[in-house]
Amino acid sequence: MKLDITKAASFLAAGEIEKFEAPVAAAQKALEEGTCPGNDFLGWMHLPSSITPAFIEEINATAKTLQENCDAVVVAGIGGSYLGARMVIDALSNSFGWLQESRYPRILFAGNNIGEDYLSELVAYLKGVRFGIINISKSGTTTETAITFRLLKRMCEEQRGKEMAQKVIVAVTDAKKGAARTTADKEGYKSFIIPDNVGGRFSVLTPVGLLPIAVAGLDIAQLVKGAQDMEKECGLDVPFQQNPAAVYAAVRNALYQGGKKIEILANYQPKLHNLGEWWKQLYGESEGKDGKGIFPASVDLTTDLHSMGQWIQDGERTIFETVVSVEQPNSSLEVPSDEENLDGLNFLAGKRIDEVNKMAELGTQLAHVDGGVPNLKISIAKLDEYHVGQLIYFFEKGCGISGLLLEVNPFNQPGVEAYKKNMFALLGKPGYEAETEAIKARL
Ligand code: PA5
Repeated sequence: MKLDITKAASFLAAGEIEKFEAPVAAAQKALEEGTCPGNDFLGWMHLPSSITPAFIEEINATAKTLQENCDAVVVAGIGGSYLGARMVIDALSNSFGWLQESRYPRILFAGNNIGEDYLSELVAYLKGVRFGIINISKSGTTTETAITFRLLKRMCEEQRGKEMAQKVIVAVTDAKKGAARTTADKEGYKSFIIPDNVGGRFSVLTPVGLLPIAVAGLDIAQLVKGAQDMEKECGLDVPFQQNPAAVYAAVRNALYQGGKKIEILANYQPKLHNLGEWWKQLYGESEGKDGKGIFPASVDLTTDLHSMGQWIQDGERTIFETVVSVEQPNSSLEVPSDEENLDGLNFLAGKRIDEVNKMAELGTQLAHVDGGVPNLKISIAKLDEYHVGQLIYFFEKGCGISGLLLEVNPFNQPGVEAYKKNMFALLGKPGYEAETEAIKARL
C-alpha cells in the first residue's frame, strides 16, 4: 500500500504538515502506552499481531460447518457489527456471484435496519432455503439486530429443526452480558467473544468480521497477514515521513485546520462501495463529537462523476478527496474493434477497460486539483485479502491518531444513544416511563 500526498501538500503552506510531527508522535505514544482518552478501547492496536494460527483455524472450522450445512447465511448485525464484513466480502467477491452457483453459502446482511419490507422480503426469500445465522452484537441488545434475530431464529428452527438450527446459528457477542450471550448459552450455540477492549467500528479483525468473511470462502489468514504487516509499517518506531497512518492523520488535520471540513473517499471500483461505508463509520463515529470533526463522505467513481461530480468540481471549496486506487484488476477485458465504428469508439479499440478507467482517474484527479480540491491517493497493487487487510489497519491507525490530534476521544460514541432513548420512550420500553412522559409533552 502506498500513500501519495503530493497533490494535497501543494495546497498547504511550507511546514504545515511537519508541524504535526510532534503531536502525531505524542498521539502515537499515548495510543501505545494507553494514556489517551478512551484507553479502555485500544485492543485493536495490536490485534493483528495477537491473532494466532489456532484462532484462525477455529474460525475456519466453524465457517466450514456453516458452509457444509447452509446455502445462505444471514449476518445479523449493525454498524461496527456488520460494515467490516460487508466491505471485505463485497471487495473480494465476484460482483455477480449471487446470480451464479457457488460452493459457498450466499451471505445476506440483515439486522442493520428496521424496514418491514426488507425483513418481509428476506423471510420470503429464505422460505425453503437451507439457511444459517451469524448473530453479531457486542451489547447483545441492539434493537435492529435483536428483532431480526428473533424472527430468523424461529424461522430457522421451524424450517430446519431444533437440532440443525443449533448447529447453524452462531453468536458473536460479549463474553458474559447481553441477550445474545444469554440466548447462545441457553441454546448451546457455538459462540465467539468480542473482546471488551475492541469497539464495534474497530472490530473487523475479530470474529465479528473474520467469521462471515471465512464463510464467504475468503482467506482470512491472508487478510490478517496484510493487517499484521501494516501494524509494523505504522508502528511507533517508524519515522513520521515513512509512517503512512501518521502522515495521513497529519495531512487531513492540516487541511481541516485550513477550512477543509469534508473528506470524500473516492474509489474507481464498484466493489469498493462498502469500503466507503465502513470508512465513514470509522471516521464519523470516532471524530464527530464535541462540535468538531471532518465530515466523511464517499463516492463511487466514475459513476458519481455523473451525479456528484459537479459539486466536487465546482461547489463550496470546503472539501478534500482521498482516492483509493487499485493498480491491477484481477481480470482482463479489452474494448473490441468495430468495423462500422458507429459509436466512434475505435480510438479505444484494443485498450484494456482498466486503462480507460485509469485515464478517467488521472483526468479526474487533475481536474479536481485544478478546481481547488486537495487530493490524497492510496494505492494498492490489487484487490485481494492481503491488500484489503493492509487498508483496514492503515485506516484504523490513521483514525486513532487523527482523533487524538483533533483532541476528541476517538473511541466512544455518546451521540449514538440520543435516538435510542427517544425511540424506546416512544415505544414504551419498560424503564423509560419518565422519558415517555417528557417526549409526549413535545409532540
Ligand atoms: O461502532 C460501534 O460501536 C457501533 O456502531 C456498534 O457496532 C453498533 O451500534 C452495534 O452495536 P452492537 O454490536 O452492540 O449491537
